[in-house]
Amino acid sequence: MPEQKLKTSIAILGCGDVGSTLAYTLILNPVCSEVILVDPKTALLEAQVRDLSDATYRGNTGTRVRAGTHKDAGQADIVVITAGAKQKPGESRLSLLSRNLHILSSIFSAMQPISPHTILLLVANPVDILTYFARKLSGLPESQVIGTGTSLDSARLRGILATKADVSPSSIMAYVLGEHGDSQFIAWSSATIGVTPLSMALPSSTDPTFRAEIASHTRGAAGSIIAAKGCTAYGIGNMAASICKYIMYDQLTVRPLSFYQPELGCCLSMPAIIGRKGITRVMPIELDEREKRELEDCANGLRAVIEGAEKELEA
Ligand code: LAC
Repeated sequence: MPEQKLKTSIAILGCGDVGSTLAYTLILNPVCSEVILVDPKTALLEAQVRDLSDATYRGNTGTRVRAGTHKDAGQADIVVITAGAKQKPGESRLSLLSRNLHILSSIFSAMQPISPHTILLLVANPVDILTYFARKLSGLPESQVIGTGTSLDSARLRGILATKADVSPSSIMAYVLGEHGDSQFIAWSSATIGVTPLSMALPSSTDPTFRAEIASHTRGAAGSIIAAKGCTAYGIGNMAASICKYIMYDQLTVRPLSFYQPELGCCLSMPAIIGRKGITRVMPIELDEREKRELEDCANGLRAVIEGAEKELEA
């Protein structure tokens, strides 16, 4: 009889601010039996494992936290990649590319062989470009290589609109799409509160100044947090944990996530259904003419960055 797999594991590569916040969220809302942390900084790694383990001894239903190797990570149900340089105040996500691409490449060499059932969740920035290369370096099907993308930007958008409309964020359906970065755009034309079009539920939302202000707020949200505290961690840690839950419980939830778009030649965020097999279906979204142009500009920009990075990797 084939051996039954009893453990469910999520490996987190990189246990700095984001990786450890994700681990903490995963043990408070248990979604797997084991969280494996991997980090070359061994003193930090061991301290994080001990500190996080202390949090499991009360109340948790039994998630074990342990240190592991890249090889162990390659056999996990989900591998979350947070490892890499982080944005300094005033720096764009794209400026991290060169450093983080080299880290990514060494991670994949160390992780092989990767289980064919593993889902890769990219969190490190620039997330869309790293998702593109992770797909190539891992050899996994593109449906299993996903970036957190604009899921967090969309949550931020929901938060702002909720305050303006005096309604719960969970009642707002509105997506930031494209790059998790400066060329992102808001799909205003499809936004709703409940099933009511946003333009009807919140008439001020059709004003171009209102839209520009909100778009700038969403785009700049991470930058302003980083300027004050040096990193973002809770928002992204929580979002990554939710995505892990959709995957482990095969929840088949619709979220804007970064994944490969064959017709655009890059990874960027569009709405899709996510479950245990990764992206199971792309959800078509109707964009107006302006949004279509924004999507095209965003894809052109990302493709140019990918071409530059491909040359750098070959050199
Ligand atoms: C942020 C980081 C994850 O937007 O890029 O908070």
